[in-house]
Amino acid sequence: MSIQTTLPEGSLILVTGASGYIGAHVTKQLLHRGYKVRGTVRDISKAGWLLTDSFPKEATNGSLELVILNNINDKNQIQQAIQGVAGVVHIATTNTFNPDPNETVTQTVNFVVSLLIAASSEKSVKEFVYTSTIGAATMLPAQLGFHFDGTNWNDSARALAWAPPPYTPDRAIFVDVRDVALLHVAALLDPSIEGARLPAWGYEFNWNDILKILQQLNPGKALPVALDNPEGFNGTADVAQAKHALKQWSGQGDFTSLEKGVIDTLNGPSVPE
Ligand SMILES: NC(=O)c1ccc[n+]([C@@H]2O[C@H](COP(=O)([O-])OP(=O)(O)OC[C@H]3O[C@@H](n4cnc5c(N)ncnc54)[C@H](OP(=O)(O)O)[C@@H]3O)[C@@H](O)[C@H]2O)c1
Repeated sequence: MSIQTTLPEGSLILVTGASGYIGAHVTKQLLHRGYKVRGTVRDISKAGWLLTDSFPKEATNGSLELVILNNINDKNQIQQAIQGVAGVVHIATTNTFNPDPNETVTQTVNFVVSLLIAASSEKSVKEFVYTSTIGAATMLPAQLGFHFDGTNWNDSARALAWAPPPYTPDRAIFVDVRDVALLHVAALLDPSIEGARLPAWGYEFNWNDILKILQQLNPGKALPVALDNPEGFNGTADVAQAKHALKQWSGQGDFTSLEKGVIDTLNGPSVPE
């Protein structure tokens, strides 16, 4: 079945952070669907595996190129990265985990704003996808009963991030990267998805659920006992559009199950081939 797309096959897509976990999977999805990818990396020599190991054919035939974007304040770098692309998928993020908002928040916001400004003045750009985080919608762990309906914003996080020093670190959450990559492709190419926030929130789980899967995989192996108060994700979200996109773009009727996600993550290459 051929799917109607916002951008024709062969279009050049800028993927920022192509060397990252999600960026590499989005790159794979786009290349396998006949799109060309210009991936930004901070250090070409460190990201060389993308060209030599993951996508050698596409690197050789010119479908994949890497450009350096290691200074978000360098307008020339951003201009060169964005020049001539039809779509932008902005996934790169400053991942220093520096709890000082003057560093982390300011850099992250400057990064996306610089790209949006450059994209708005580059006539070839027709689509822009931005990868956010669950923390943009709710505090973590989510309050029991929290539901994402596409309109929620986590204003408390902003207040917390900009609270006076001292600055202290916090925590994170698990997502199946293949579903996340597919939703990026859908957000970029599906004409029915416009101005949407697509939550990749498949299933509620806690760390004991993951422990149970590991115990089933390794019967007899000494594993940690179940936690008394396992932290998990307690919220829900309007996922009809995301599920429809998964169906449309991969034929899968639902998010990848937690069990499959954990098993494949343990067994498979974390880097796409
Ligand atoms: N992974 C998850 O489970 C998950 C879940 C939900 C949301 N997200 C969101 O998805 C986004 C990407 O996550 P990820 O897990 O793919 O991250 P990742 O593996 O750490 O990749 C981050 C990418 O950003 C690049 N980068 C870092 N700092 C940069 C800077 N200052 N300038 C330019 N590029 C820079 C990195 O380049 P180098 O290769 O040079 O380091 C890398 O390619 C983040 O916004 C994250 O919050 C992730």
